[in-house]
Amino acid sequence: MTHQHPILVINCSGKIGSRVAANLAALAVPHRGVSRRTAIRFDWQDETTWPAALAGTKAAFVSFVPDLAAPEALPIMQRFVEAAREAGLTKLVLLTGRGEIGAIAAENVVRASGLAWTVVRAAWFNQNFSEGHLLDSVFEGHLYMPAADRAEPFVDAGDIADVATAALLDDVHNGQIYDVTGPDLLTFHQAAALLAAATGRPYQYVPVTLDEFHAGLVEALGVEWADLLRTVADETLDGRNSWVGDGVQRAIGRQPHAFADFCAQAYASGSWSQAA
Ligand SMILES: NC(=O)c1ccc[n+]([C@@H]2O[C@H](COP(=O)([O-])OP(=O)(O)OC[C@H]3O[C@@H](n4cnc5c(N)ncnc54)[C@H](OP(=O)(O)O)[C@@H]3O)[C@@H](O)[C@H]2O)c1
Repeated sequence: MTHQHPILVINCSGKIGSRVAANLAALAVPHRGVSRRTAIRFDWQDETTWPAALAGTKAAFVSFVPDLAAPEALPIMQRFVEAAREAGLTKLVLLTGRGEIGAIAAENVVRASGLAWTVVRAAWFNQNFSEGHLLDSVFEGHLYMPAADRAEPFVDAGDIADVATAALLDDVHNGQIYDVTGPDLLTFHQAAALLAAATGRPYQYVPVTLDEFHAGLVEALGVEWADLLRTVADETLDGRNSWVGDGVQRAIGRQPHAFADFCAQAYASGSWSQAA
């Protein structure tokens, strides 16, 4: 297949977007990665940056930050889809989170856009522990989460990116919603034990209530972030997502990577070298 138009990769510095861009680069597919720091800037909070990023592209990987659970996400996504249509795009591949009310709302906007679409609806990323907001907890040795003993099918960022890349490149994925999860349901106790074994350092999951979780975050990150992370936790860790999806298998015909494999790989690549 030839690609006359670059594929737009929004949030090319993020955990998933960086991997989508790397996949496209490895396949020599023309693409335009954008974030607030690229030469062609893209800022979700500044729609004057959108036309230049969209210009000349036909398909886009869409990753909203900080999270589709944010209160401003829906109106921004509505305006973005309108801008994409006006710019002549024909296809959107949207990254969302399983169980989130705001994610479903954004999915509905994209599904009703009249453009071709694929939804990549992901579980909690493994890489939250190595590149994301849970990295510090690995160094500190304690993971405070309001998940009780409920299980989550943590998924690898590489698997999510592979599904998104396939969706960008092949119209067979148009109109599909892929529930992308890892192969195993793990409690946070089990995930912490696997991380402790990989790093050789103590790492303990401490179940907390939603209110305790929120109070700790207010202190560390301020009210806005605390409110957002409380919403995400409330909507994803209450048990509704405690099932394994088949999105990776359906989209790309292979099994997703196990959490233990992620731990070994992240350790080997030095993700937790401060903790080692
Ligand atoms: N983490 C999870 O477990 C999980 C699970 C399911 C779904 N999701 C979804 O995944 C998406 C996040 O993807 P991710 O984790 O790959 O992203 P990420 O790693 O959190 O992305 C971080 C990057 O976003 C860029 N950024 C920050 N504010 C921006 C803005 N206003 N406009 C444009 N770029 C901005 C920053 O790059 P620059 O400084 O270069 O701009 C930053 O490096 C969210 O929609 C979330 O709902 C996450």
